[in-house]
Amino acid sequence: CASTGVRAPLLGFKSVALGEVDAVRVPEGYLTQVIAPWGDPIGVAGAQPAFKPDASNSAADQAVQMGMHHDGMAYFPLDGSRRGLLCMNHEYADHGLLFSDGGKDWTPEKVAKSQAAHGFSVIEIEQNAESQWAVVRPSRFARRVTANTPCQVNGPAAGHPLMRTAHDPSGRRVLGTLSNCAASRTPWGSFLSGEENFIGYFRGPNRPNAHEQRWGLRAGEQWGYRWVEHDERFDAAAHPNEPHRFGWIVELDPSDPQAAPVKRTAMGRAAHEGATVALCKDGRAVVYSGEDARFEYIYKFVSRDAMQPGGPKANAELLDHGTLYVARFDADGRGRWLPLVHGQGPLTAANGFADQGEVLIKTRQASDLLGATKMDRPEWIAVDPQGHVYCTLTNNSQRGAPGRPGVDAANPRANNVGGHIIRWKEEGDFHAERFSWSHFVLAGDPQAERTEARGQMKGDAFACPDGLFADARGVLWIQTDMSSADMGPGVEFLKKDPSAGALGPKELVKLGNNMMLAADPGTGEVRRFLVGPVGAEITGCDITPDGRTMFVNIQHPGETPGDLSDPAHPMAFSSWPSPAGGRPRSATVVIRKQDGGLIGT
Ligand code: FEO
Ligand code: CA
Ligand code: CA
Ligand code: CA
Repeated sequence: CASTGVRAPLLGFKSVALGEVDAVRVPEGYLTQVIAPWGDPIGVAGAQPAFKPDASNSAADQAVQMGMHHDGMAYFPLDGSRRGLLCMNHEYADHGLLFSDGGKDWTPEKVAKSQAAHGFSVIEIEQNAESQWAVVRPSRFARRVTANTPCQVNGPAAGHPLMRTAHDPSGRRVLGTLSNCAASRTPWGSFLSGEENFIGYFRGPNRPNAHEQRWGLRAGEQWGYRWVEHDERFDAAAHPNEPHRFGWIVELDPSDPQAAPVKRTAMGRAAHEGATVALCKDGRAVVYSGEDARFEYIYKFVSRDAMQPGGPKANAELLDHGTLYVARFDADGRGRWLPLVHGQGPLTAANGFADQGEVLIKTRQASDLLGATKMDRPEWIAVDPQGHVYCTLTNNSQRGAPGRPGVDAANPRANNVGGHIIRWKEEGDFHAERFSWSHFVLAGDPQAERTEARGQMKGDAFACPDGLFADARGVLWIQTDMSSADMGPGVEFLKKDPSAGALGPKELVKLGNNMMLAADPGTGEVRRFLVGPVGAEITGCDITPDGRTMFVNIQHPGETPGDLSDPAHPMAFSSWPSPAGGRPRSATVVIRKQDGGLIGT
């Protein structure tokens, strides 16, 4: 597009400064409004329990209230940009905040409430004459999907022997979805979500086999969610196939409150952050997805059939037939999509894959055998209007560590605590088997890097890119998830002097709270648009079709490092968006321009 000559600048706002205050800050001339915090009733007729600030709502209340830890979301217009459905993920629950007394006296009721705080929310939202947005209550669309909602299984692994359990001998009906992070709206009008760190909910057998170890099951342990103590479904020793029923991409028709969520196995099982669809000129759907885990992979699925007009119902099996590929990034700046097809190459019965279902259930092992590139935690993927595909590689402090994979062309930094964004363009249409790639930006510490691998970093400093959203104007929105667990205490980085054309003197900068930035893919400029409250990550973004209202999710403000009942961990980190001293709550922020203009200008 550079050849088209002069173009209007994409970014028109003044950069927001780094900071550590407990608030959401946006540029001058922009307005924010908080809607739909965790615990607010979603608007089910006859069931609208108010949020209790002491967190004493029951599990039954939670099942009709906004879930915890808002993540990816998408807006589905009902009346253009004035009224629509907002569908979002609730990634996980922080038990220190979910209960009045934290994790004390662990009970079946507490497990049920934690499970009800997971999954999806579908809410109807509307803008009034004063341009304020509100949740419509009651609404016939209001719906929660939780860790116990019956989900349908479709595609080649549906009914597979490895999918069958004592509770579900059919292998086609799974209770619930969990660990849902990134989300997107498909061109046919459904919601797509990934199931990311599902393995952490399962307690491993005392002696996990090689397959179980490859998927992260730990001997006799779980990650601390404690569901297994009152829900034996999460005991992988007793139910070794139950973990196979998670890690899928899940599709939901938000316009039909009766429609079951569908786990689409044709796109492979992985710690999927999420999934993003591009359409080929012939109407086939190409679905990009990453696996947010260290040294795991980037995938692409190409549908066999073309999208049909008529919405989700007319495309109910579009994502069930097609070919799954995994990415190999070569040192010459090109790359190859390697097909994950049973019987091709090493993916044979002799190597432990009985059929295509098993290839899809054991996508990691199949990708290992194909020699795909082990990436630095692939999170969100976005496709811009020019057809560039971007993936955030949030960080990987283990890159180059003893006994772990070293640097490669695509993942060029050892101890990559700052993360990077990789970009590629398919050689032909989106279904092509070859692509060309480059680094869009190496985040964090550009001074320490080889200049040839520096990417295009120009402008404001940030680290740990996670959320990614390409808007219709071509702006790439980048959201960060810097955590002290990933980066060490202090979250300090060297950055280049922004006033200098070349690299300036070393300057130690504390990046402070997580943020959202806008990038101009044409110039490589990155400009900070929002800084979030204390302890929160910024994740999930959508913009109404008119370009004038943006929705951004604030996840885990005041993230508790432990249990609130432990006096060492008072709830003092954040109270956002509650009054001072109150309980922090994940929530959606609505952003508009004071003058009603396009977001980002
Ligand atoms: Fe749940 Fe990778 O973020
Ligand atoms: Ca994420
Ligand atoms: Ca993250
Ligand atoms: Ca987080």
